[in-house]
Amino acid sequence: MTKTAAGAVRVRGLRKGYGDATALCGIDLDIQRGEVFALLGPNGAGKTTAIEIMAGYRQRDAGEVSVLGTDPATGGRAGRCWRARIGIVAQSGPGLPDLSIADIADFEVGGVPRSLATGTEVVLLRVCQEALANVRKHAAARRAVVRLAYGQDEVRLEICDDGTGFDPARVNGGYGLHGMRLRAAEAGGTLTVCSSPGAGTSVSVAVPG
Ligand SMILES: Nc1ncnc2c1ncn2[C@@H]1O[C@H](COP(=O)(O)OP(=O)(O)OP(=O)(O)O)[C@@H](O)[C@H]1O
Ligand SMILES: [Mg+2]
Repeated sequence: MTKTAAGAVRVRGLRKGYGDATALCGIDLDIQRGEVFALLGPNGAGKTTAIEIMAGYRQRDAGEVSVLGTDPATGGRAGRCWRARIGIVAQSGPGLPDLSIADIADFEVGGVPRSLATGTEVVLLRVCQEALANVRKHAAARRAVVRLAYGQDEVRLEICDDGTGFDPARVNGGYGLHGMRLRAAEAGGTLTVCSSPGAGTSVSVAVPG
């Protein structure tokens, strides 16, 4: 394998403009695996544009880009497997701007699926929506998993993320978690929230069914 083939990042002649303004006018980069590489420049030099193109969040005008052997523009965002292999910590804000739940979430089903009472399905659906809304809004997560497990006489739904986490004892205000608890109780079930700062969050609801 040549040195270039093993490289983590290879960029040739990368160009990007916004209207009349040229952000990148043909940059070349080679970053090897394990290398610590600093991209420095004054405001407006195009650093963010270059990184967003390499991360698959922005389309380039011209040039070649390969990150971990894949063109980040392939299929729009190069796919979930590729994205799971790269790690990005944004300078500010709750994650990267257009990272959707579909980009980061996996769905798993355990046990033998069966029909549930409409009321039970509504509880599970609402808890799932609300928990994923929280992942999107608060967690800055890179991965989330939704697990639906059919037990003998109960159904358990779990929504986990690897984001910022929080201290459940210190939550005040907000209707989401409170509403999930009420819905779970109304269906004869329980809601459990496990989270701590820096350790991600898991919300699970178990209801008879
Ligand atoms: N997955 C999560 N990751 C990080 N923090 C979370 C997560 N879920 C909830 N939180 C924290 O718990 C708080 C309460 O969540 P809750 O859903 O009850 O309210 P909210 O999202 O702030 O407002 P609302 O749901 O009413 O729009 C949030 O403000 C946030 O600080
Ligand atoms: Mg909420």
